[in-house]
Amino acid sequence: MIKPTTLAATVLFITALILAGACATTTRLTPGERLVRNKCGACHMRPAPGDRPRANVARVLEEHRRRFTLTDAQTRQILNQLAPARRTPGP
Ligand code: HEC
Repeated sequence: MIKPTTLAATVLFITALILAGACATTTRLTPGERLVRNKCGACHMRPAPGDRPRANVARVLEEHRRRFTLTDAQTRQILNQLAPARRTPGP
């Protein structure tokens, strides 16, 4: 016979494992990735990193700030997500 306390402990343990797994999946996204996911697919296809040069993304984001609220920090994170500064410009 399994003791009720053993059963309860096992159920709790498994639940904790599942929750830990779910959290790990969520926290693996960077703030920039999360912002693009949450904000950039509502009106058109979500833009992908590397689609456009950084200067172009910067201009588009400035224009977009008239459409919906983006703080300076969010704008910077989205810009770095879609067009990282460290990448050297292509030919
Ligand atoms: C409120 C609706 C809305 C949301 C949300 C939105 N966009 Fe847009 N976006 C538009 C509209 C409308 C256009 C087309 C008009 C234009 O080009 O300015 C557009 C066009 C674009 C273009 C092409 C612009 C060009 O000049 O080539 C890019 C790139 C873009 N959006 C990126 C983004 C990103 C990144 C986000 C998330 C931060 C985002 N959009 C969220 C409405 C939205």
